[in-house]
Amino acid sequence: MSDNKAIQQPNDATDHPELIDPIPELPGHDSTESRVAIFGHPIHAMSVAFPVALTFCGFGADLMYWFTGEAFWARAALWAIGTGFFFGMFSGFSGTAEILFVPGIRARAPAWTHFIIAVTALALMGANWGHRLSGYETAVLPWGITLSALSVLVVMVTGWHGGKLVFNYNLGTSRGKSASKGS
Ligand code: HEM
Repeated sequence: MSDNKAIQQPNDATDHPELIDPIPELPGHDSTESRVAIFGHPIHAMSVAFPVALTFCGFGADLMYWFTGEAFWARAALWAIGTGFFFGMFSGFSGTAEILFVPGIRARAPAWTHFIIAVTALALMGANWGHRLSGYETAVLPWGITLSALSVLVVMVTGWHGGKLVFNYNLGTSRGKSASKGS
């Protein structure tokens, strides 16, 4: 009888009811499918490539201006950073709508972590663009290029973390046609 007790595994649910994670109890916890989508394609996932790529282009153009001194590169940086910022705001709105409308996304802390990192990235991109509006050539060195380098770093972390939401937590993904039809 005492042997039986020795091999019994501890069970958190019955032995320590205070340790049960309350989150899975929430209604809608398992509802994580994207709702901000066109024909099932999530707008956020489709649009984030633009701000990421344009932020890299802006930094590249700043480096070219630093090396060559040609005004063309300073103007290219202004446009890349400005359009990157506006595309970033657009994808930020679509991501915010996902967080607000999808209960299973709203309930998960990593989604809010991503929100905070993304807003930091957008603030840097906006500051970088605004800083250049009063003279795009003089703005590049030293502060423009510094802001561009910081934006690249934070946008990389934002994109990497967004990928984790999709690949590790399955947020914003579809259950697929075969799952819903049961075939
Ligand atoms: C500012 C508010 C933002 C919120 C609330 C937000 C929220 C989310 C959510 C919930 C997902 C999971 C997929 C989905 O539901 O569509 C996601 C994915 C992602 N996010 Fe954001 N996001 C924001 C901004 C951004 C920005 C500014 C970027 C990059 C510039 C970004 C990059 C990504 C990437 C790369 C993914 C993975 C997409 C994929 O691989 O399919 N997000 N985001």
